[in-house]
Amino acid sequence: MSAEIIDGKKLAITFREQVAQEVAQFKEQSQIVPHLTAILVGEDPASAVYVRNKQRACEKAGIQSTLKRLPAETTQDKLHKLVQELNADQSVHGILVQLPLPKHIDEVAILDVVNPLKDVDAFHPENVGLIVQGRPRYLPCTPYGIQQMILSTEMETAGKHAVILGRSEIVGKPMAMLLIQRGLGADATVTICHSRTQNLKEIVQSADIIIAAIGKPEFVTADMVKPGAVVIDVGINRVNEKLVGDVAFDSVKEIASAITPVPGGVGPMTIAMLLKNTLTAARIL
Ligand code: GUN
Repeated sequence: MSAEIIDGKKLAITFREQVAQEVAQFKEQSQIVPHLTAILVGEDPASAVYVRNKQRACEKAGIQSTLKRLPAETTQDKLHKLVQELNADQSVHGILVQLPLPKHIDEVAILDVVNPLKDVDAFHPENVGLIVQGRPRYLPCTPYGIQQMILSTEMETAGKHAVILGRSEIVGKPMAMLLIQRGLGADATVTICHSRTQNLKEIVQSADIIIAAIGKPEFVTADMVKPGAVVIDVGINRVNEKLVGDVAFDSVKEIASAITPVPGGVGPMTIAMLLKNTLTAARIL
């Protein structure tokens, strides 16, 4: 049996249309135009594409979008001051510092400066803390998008075993928090695997939900997947000019009950959730 393909692109369009409607209503009621400012430091071509896609999506939803582009040699102090200026700018509701930053910049120190109310990525420790306590202000865009994709399958998640591959601050850790959350979360039992995990294959084989976010092309193979598992692929790896995920899609789709493609899976949902968060920011500021 071949898995249901979870069409992130299509689902993202639904969310984006909904946000566009809510933005229009919000503008009419408040005379305020939600405004996202993205900061892009350096010349990383993938980051430039991501930021351009985020900007386009904002514009289509009626959200104002500004890009602050800085050279790779920008100093910590200069970037710090720019974030402070955006914090103080009342016309800016959301601030997004595109990661990764160049190596000479202390990334954590920069993210700490972002006003938590404008932190639409939910990377600030105050927002991370609120998520851990189960009372989020913002949800980080990728885990938020994945949560919506899992909800779209209408699978029962309570008590199920979710295995996350990767312990990143952007995906792995916050994803675990959302999956264990009761009520609006998934009520799942969660394991996070990483580069030092022993018996990784056996752990993944026991998963009802697999979230692959380790950045290794086609790492999750069919022999690691329990029949009927739901497989979410966060990987975006460039192999011979082709984009491939962290999951060997063609073989795993024959075993899973639902699977996300790459591209057209998690990526578009991440952007849709950013739009939702930016509207939330305009509402709460
Ligand atoms: N780099 C990779 N993913 C993300 C993300 O979700 N937000 C930001 N700011 N940078 C990223």
